[in-house]
Amino acid sequence: MTNDVENAVLVEQIATAAKEALEPKLWDYVVGGAGRESTVARNRQAFDAWGFRRRVLRNIQTVETSTSLLGEELAIPVFLSPIGSLELLHREGARASAQAAGQYGTTFFYGVNSATPMQDVVDAGRGQPIFQLYVRDGRDWWQPLLESVERLGFRALCITVDVPVIGRRDRDIRNHFFALTASDTRRPNLSAAAGFSDPSRLHGLDWDVLKDIVAATRLPVIVKGIQDPADALLAVEAGAAAVYVSNHGGRQLDDEPATLEILPGIVDAVQGRAKVLMDGGITHGIDVVKALALGADAVGVGKMQALALASGGAPGVVRLLQLFEEEIRNTLYQLGVASVGALGRDALHPLSRIDRDRPWIA
Ligand SMILES: Cc1cc2nc3c(=O)[nH]c(=O)nc-3n(C[C@H](O)[C@H](O)[C@H](O)COP(=O)(O)O)c2cc1C
Repeated sequence: MTNDVENAVLVEQIATAAKEALEPKLWDYVVGGAGRESTVARNRQAFDAWGFRRRVLRNIQTVETSTSLLGEELAIPVFLSPIGSLELLHREGARASAQAAGQYGTTFFYGVNSATPMQDVVDAGRGQPIFQLYVRDGRDWWQPLLESVERLGFRALCITVDVPVIGRRDRDIRNHFFALTASDTRRPNLSAAAGFSDPSRLHGLDWDVLKDIVAATRLPVIVKGIQDPADALLAVEAGAAAVYVSNHGGRQLDDEPATLEILPGIVDAVQGRAKVLMDGGITHGIDVVKALALGADAVGVGKMQALALASGGAPGVVRLLQLFEEEIRNTLYQLGVASVGALGRDALHPLSRIDRDRPWIA
């Protein structure tokens, strides 16, 4: 299977291989979402509402896909979103995603819930990963943890704020599947957290705690899970270097807007005072181009990373990123836009809906 995925020529082949590789309950855990999954569907379908406005005769000879994020050079503006449970999906887990990010040339968000020790992830990648924190206990817990994060050379700290409780995911409930349980002792970063005795709850996180964490670290802080322009502004005021627009891939709450729909309002509110990252529903390079045109500085892949890892390990994740790059390049040439940084809202048109199941000729 690994070999097939390494040579995949379409993203769809990676997803198909993952469905074959994964036990059904793990497949459901990855692709499922909160409730009846309208947020998952909306994240994805929001991309269909935008199409391209092409300009012609621009004689573009080369296109530039690279960008920089908090001081790190990324070959494409696509990073690997935090997934704390990669070890359930592939024996190499977070190590493999870190290795893939290093080999391809992007950054990897290492989840605090990971069963892989953070030192291993730093050793596996080439660049500096970003540390994703769920605030599970008070300062006595997070301060020493952040000292290790800084000492090991992580580039930035990402605080996920959209999990006051874990979402009710119908598929997992039906399958009696819970990725993180109180008796799970394989999570090296969590063992000292009192909040670990009830892994479904976060520990009293509010704007003051966020400010305390920003003040306590010298790393730039990314606030992940922002869905409202007012909260984006509060995050900037709290000292965030980046606002990360995310609804957890639709895993937390049903009936939320797509992240692509709320992205432009947040970009307008932030007005360049912080980077704006986003994820949710990105499956192809063409989606990346749309999100950048609507103002994102870089975007993350969650489910597609998980599926590429499950079916192909580190080489599968590298292949996914290469396919994204091919699609981004092709789209930029077609649009007559010479670099990802030059994309703006003028590259897009709102589209009428089409019925993809209707044949073009009867
Ligand atoms: C299996 C799985 C586990 C996840 N675990 C975490 C996590 O530990 N921390 C976190 O901040 N987000 C987590 N997420 C959310 C992702 O970081 C990301 O926001 C989301 O998957 C993006 O949407 P997409 O899956 O449509 O690309 C997880 C997502 C998946 C699919």
